[in-house]
Amino acid sequence: MDLLNKIEEAAAYVQSRSSHRPVIGVILGSGLGGFTEQMEVDQEIEYATIPHFPVSTVEGHSGKMLIGSIGGKSIITLSGRFHYYEGYSTQEVVFPIRVLQKMGVKNLLITNAAGGTNTDFKVGNLMVIKDHISFAIVNPLIGKNFDELGTRFPDMSEPYSKKLISKAHEIAEQLGFDLKEGVYFGVTGPSFETRAEYKLIQHLGADAVGMSTVQEVIAAVHAGMQIFAISVITDIGIREEENIILHKDVLDAANASAPKLTALLTSMIQSFEYAS
Ligand code: HPA
Repeated sequence: MDLLNKIEEAAAYVQSRSSHRPVIGVILGSGLGGFTEQMEVDQEIEYATIPHFPVSTVEGHSGKMLIGSIGGKSIITLSGRFHYYEGYSTQEVVFPIRVLQKMGVKNLLITNAAGGTNTDFKVGNLMVIKDHISFAIVNPLIGKNFDELGTRFPDMSEPYSKKLISKAHEIAEQLGFDLKEGVYFGVTGPSFETRAEYKLIQHLGADAVGMSTVQEVIAAVHAGMQIFAISVITDIGIREEENIILHKDVLDAANASAPKLTALLTSMIQSFEYAS
């Protein structure tokens, strides 16, 4: 069965479970699950039950789609994502994006946890992603191009919607918190970066580094979606001493910032001009 048929079957299954037809999709990163508590959930669908969804290779990994609404707008949320470092191919990593595309999602809001390489940043800051650097990852569009999904050579001059970035700044100001903006550097992980690597990433012009998002964004650009992405800065890689970063610290920092992020995303979704 080719990729297009797999995408069709997966999308048809998800659509058979709910009458919502969301045009807005949300991807939640590590420790950011709190957003779903604000949703009015119609259906929760375990990834394992969706045809052709990548099979989880990691113990305790639970991922699900939640279909419902927030502030009266239909949305579909991916709670849990697939990472390249877990052993998935990059095509598998972006399969959920393709399913959203097939279902008619036109706007994708992506969240992640990231390490700061901008020395003005503090743990807990939110950083809107204005651009990314991705030489360190495997491009998910490598291989046969399906013209039905998108063009062979997608333009990447504005992967992150300027309109949505200004909207986010407007909302953050109303909500009264500091919103950073910067360039995200995608790495494969799973090891965190060495001191020298954090410095190099900083020198290359990035403000934060993380192990997700870039591949999803490339697939979403390929799909013609309008994209907004935001990082919670969970650690600062550029430090003179004590460069120890633990996964637990990353999750704790992400959890602590989740309410701010949830408020921002909720307002952004409410500001979309769609009826459903
Ligand atoms: N590096 C890479 N990925 C990350 C980091 C980091 O410092 N923090 C959270 N995700």
